[in-house]
Amino acid sequence: MDIAAIKAQIDTEIQKVDSLPALEEFRVKYLGRKGLIAQLTASLATIPSEGRANFGQQVNALKNTLSTLIAEKQKSLTTATAANVGGAVDIGLPGISQELGRLHPLTQMIDEICLIFVRLGFSVVEGPEIETEYNNFTALNIPAEHPSRDVFDTFYINQNLLLRSHTSPVQIRVMKSQKPPLAVVVPGRVYRPDAVDASHSFMFHQIEGFMVDREIRFSDLKGILKLFAQEVFGKEIKMRFRPHFFPFTEPSAEVDISCIICGGHQVTRSPGHQEKHCSVCGGKGWLEILGAGMIHPNVFKNVGYDPKKYTGFAFGLGVDRIAMLKYGIDDIRLFYENDLRFLKQF
Ligand code: PHE
Repeated sequence: MDIAAIKAQIDTEIQKVDSLPALEEFRVKYLGRKGLIAQLTASLATIPSEGRANFGQQVNALKNTLSTLIAEKQKSLTTATAANVGGAVDIGLPGISQELGRLHPLTQMIDEICLIFVRLGFSVVEGPEIETEYNNFTALNIPAEHPSRDVFDTFYINQNLLLRSHTSPVQIRVMKSQKPPLAVVVPGRVYRPDAVDASHSFMFHQIEGFMVDREIRFSDLKGILKLFAQEVFGKEIKMRFRPHFFPFTEPSAEVDISCIICGGHQVTRSPGHQEKHCSVCGGKGWLEILGAGMIHPNVFKNVGYDPKKYTGFAFGLGVDRIAMLKYGIDDIRLFYENDLRFLKQF
């Protein structure tokens, strides 16, 4: 066999090898177990003894040449592949997606409620979370001995400053700086040293609303609150006013809506058609959602309004509670734990 001819063939063939699989094919063809070198080695025995040593050396040399060629080719193919990957843009690959954030469910609830009032002509005002004791209590006709002024019920910063325990002090701020007619809603955080459980948090959200002008009546309050409840909970919702006491309104009321689960029927039907006590309203058929009333004449006096000239209503609602009822959330802590599995549902 003509080793020189084989060598020439190898040289042309290796030049045509343009991929790693093709190189592997080439290697098997020459260096594989049944490859050409193996065949040549096997044929050694048939070579006449004078030429055998020489032929053996030539086969060995050829084998070494092949190994070097293959190693060099492999190196050049691998660097070429790496360069391709680095340089080319594969427009078929999926892009790097950016996760969109969203508004917190309570922010969404605040926006939804405020918008209802804005459409009725109210403006939105905010006030500070650190308040004076005067605005939070005294100006609102809350006497010094009232239990809510106790250190157990309010976070005091010092003698005069505290974390506001409701949004009502913003009534004082607005009335002191503006003259009637006024129609204002005030969303914001409020703070109370309550033990945290499924329905209590040391910080929660309220929306205060008030309207002041000549001849504002309790019926204006009723009409506006009913419209608000129907916008949030649907047209079927019913509303009731229960007499209550707040120092800053007279008369005062607590306002309930008909239970959004049992519809005021006090019972729900289980899948087996058995009637059971509604657990959301505790079988009462009603759910408390806010406090309200006609602004007390003493509050008007404290801000320099003439109570004979002006009347007005005020209400304060709990945003967290309304969001819980609307979305069927049974634990207020879910709002404050930053668990994306919860937040992503809104
Ligand atoms: N500020 C009262 C509370 O936090 C709610 C309220 C506001 C009641 C306005 C009447 C009028 O409980």
